Amino acid sequence: MTKNIAVLTGDGIGPEIMAEALKVLHAVGKKYGHIFNCEEAPFGASAYFSHGNPFPKEAQDVCDRADAIMKGPVGLAVNEMNRIPQEMRPEIGAILPLRKRYNTFANYRPVRLPASLASLSPLKPEIIGKGIDILMIRELVGGLYFGDKVEGTATGMKYSSDELIYTADEVRDIARVAFNEARKGKVKLTNVHKANVLATSRFWNAIVDTVRAEYTDVVYESVLVDNAAYQLVKNPAQYNGVMLFENMQGDILTDQAGGILGSLGLMPSACVGPAKTYVEPAHGSAPDIAGKNIANPYSMIGSVALMLEKAFGLDREANAVWNALTRVLTDGYRTVELTDASTKKEYILGTKEFGDRVRDIVAE
Ligand code: IPM
Ligand code: MN
Repeated sequence: MTKNIAVLTGDGIGPEIMAEALKVLHAVGKKYGHIFNCEEAPFGASAYFSHGNPFPKEAQDVCDRADAIMKGPVGLAVNEMNRIPQEMRPEIGAILPLRKRYNTFANYRPVRLPASLASLSPLKPEIIGKGIDILMIRELVGGLYFGDKVEGTATGMKYSSDELIYTADEVRDIARVAFNEARKGKVKLTNVHKANVLATSRFWNAIVDTVRAEYTDVVYESVLVDNAAYQLVKNPAQYNGVMLFENMQGDILTDQAGGILGSLGLMPSACVGPAKTYVEPAHGSAPDIAGKNIANPYSMIGSVALMLEKAFGLDREANAVWNALTRVLTDGYRTVELTDASTKKEYILGTKEFGDRVRDIVAE
């Protein structure tokens, strides 16, 4: 097949990890006979400085005509970020508008750690047990992050507010995505909420219950978000399957899941809407290590696998990328943030060398 892909390289380590992801993407194209036409566009904090907007019109046009979007991490060092007005910061001025523009309401964050890689996790091997395999699904275009805001100041207006709204349609749509995934994988679904306090959570649960009635084959449980945070450290494997979150709770607990894996560098993600999908690593742009060839490209390369799967339906190709990523790690190779005193020097790879290995395995 032939696909057009918008490439938003982003800031910080973005260019380095994107280069590796594109390398792997083109290896997939070559091996399986697909053409991926990639068009780069400015996006993020550096785009604000060069174009006056972190998601400038030309980037919107490139994204509009693309079949899918690959986005790198965004954000520069604090002193540079401080020169950007609040509404032009990449989070508010680029990421949220990108999500809204394509209504990418379903955020997939797979959290996978096979037992053979248990040593990557800061948790004890017996807690990792037979391995972690949780597909975290987060609602991405509603809730607190998109509600009306009133912003007070210490010296001016004496209050602030962020409105938290969920409509029945929004809850139903994301719940269906989660139940479909649970049904497909023949796994349990855990719905996360804060219904002991929040009206929106009680409403969320009531709508989830109506969807549940269509999926009586799926094993279902629900858990309070604070308890889920606790249980994810005590015994994460109990949630193997699908976890469903609203926007903010999912934002927080997916980062916690990165901690279980030992690095947010191991956390790719896909943001899926009715007409367009974009993919991105779940981590930031790490400006402190940019340009040093030490960033872990796993999450950006894994995002390629998610794009192949979710945007193009190329499951075989996606699996080839997942398998290659896992093999590099099970062969013992590590980027530096995954190492400890026992890691042999010849197994520590730079960003490029890690990408080379993944590409070579895909090409085999
Ligand atoms: C994420 C990020 C974003 C979010 C920020 C950068 C807007 O933390 O994708 O998890 O909060 O969703
Ligand atoms: Mn986050």
